[in-house]
Amino acid sequence: MSNVVLQVEDLHTSFFTRMGEVKAVDGVSFLIREGETFGIVGESGCGKSVTGLSIMRLLPEPGGQIVGGKIILEGKNLLELSKKAMRAYRGKIVSMILQDPMSSLNPVYQVGDQIAESVRLHQGLPENMVEPEVISALRLLRIPAPEVRIKEYPFQLSGGMRQRVVGSIAMSCKPRLLIADEPTTALDSTIQAQYIALFEDIQAKTNVAIMFITHDFGVISRICDRVGVMYAGKIVETAPTREIFKAPKHPYTVALIHSVPRLDQKDERLFSIEGQPPSLMNLPPGCRFCPRCTVALDVCKEQQPPEVKISDNHSVSCWRVK
Ligand SMILES: Nc1ncnc2c1ncn2[C@@H]1O[C@H](COP(=O)(O)OP(=O)(O)OP(=O)(O)O)[C@@H](O)[C@H]1O
Ligand SMILES: [Mg+2]
Repeated sequence: MSNVVLQVEDLHTSFFTRMGEVKAVDGVSFLIREGETFGIVGESGCGKSVTGLSIMRLLPEPGGQIVGGKIILEGKNLLELSKKAMRAYRGKIVSMILQDPMSSLNPVYQVGDQIAESVRLHQGLPENMVEPEVISALRLLRIPAPEVRIKEYPFQLSGGMRQRVVGSIAMSCKPRLLIADEPTTALDSTIQAQYIALFEDIQAKTNVAIMFITHDFGVISRICDRVGVMYAGKIVETAPTREIFKAPKHPYTVALIHSVPRLDQKDERLFSIEGQPPSLMNLPPGCRFCPRCTVALDVCKEQQPPEVKISDNHSVSCWRVK
């Protein structure tokens, strides 16, 4: 079994607002191994981005705070590092492609300079080595004519190309862990497929561990080795991708997989899950999915289900699963 790169243990992250505490991440645990792609999937607002931003220690301020747990990256608990030490880790050991890629590119700088900034900061190369390194980072993401592209500004690139530049910045320092937050959502399906192929290619070359955030089980099936299904701040099921498609156990997982459009079922109306996730400020005492669950039992209303290990790498939190 490959080395564990990231281990998140019982992570709790909250936002302290005037209205009260929003428990955006509420006891999340998972691990990612070298060369593995672990997907985090769930509906909007369930805490996927906040989990990624917690690992980066880049929570929106004021208000966002990690209130408990451990984030162990390459054997070090990131929550014990000073701000300065964390800055050195960011980019070099862990980097993140943010959900909105445009917000991470500066419109007034050439793209080459933006990648060079990250290369200089983390690799400490002599100045004459910086440009070749920038070009090789662009080449890794299969950007054509990188020598020309480095002189261009973000507005001169197409959306798909910008997405690759953001990927180049994230990969330029050869991190051990890459967090990719919905990197394919804004792309059309052809470019999406190409971008996913690129991730696989990069991983084969660098053995980077990837945490891939998406709301789309279709994307999960194409890229992830294992997946964690998140609902209202908790991971409710974790399993290898193939197993979760073949035998999903949590009613929420079943519903999410059911709502992926299928080419072979043209006439059927697309399935959607009734109702809304609960407010993270006012959570129900029992299972958080219970109000929307079509197979709920009495106990589901009253008590949170414990996590049950149904095989070595398949766990689920549901009262129906013993
Ligand atoms: N700056 C903030 N202030 C207060 N609450 C916040 C803030 N950012 C996020 N939250 C809360 O944290 C929850 C989780 O947000 P997060 O961005 O992680 O969702 P997500 O799963 O990434 O959703 P999406 O699929 O829409 O990107 C939200 O439902 C919201 O209640
Ligand atoms: Mg998000």
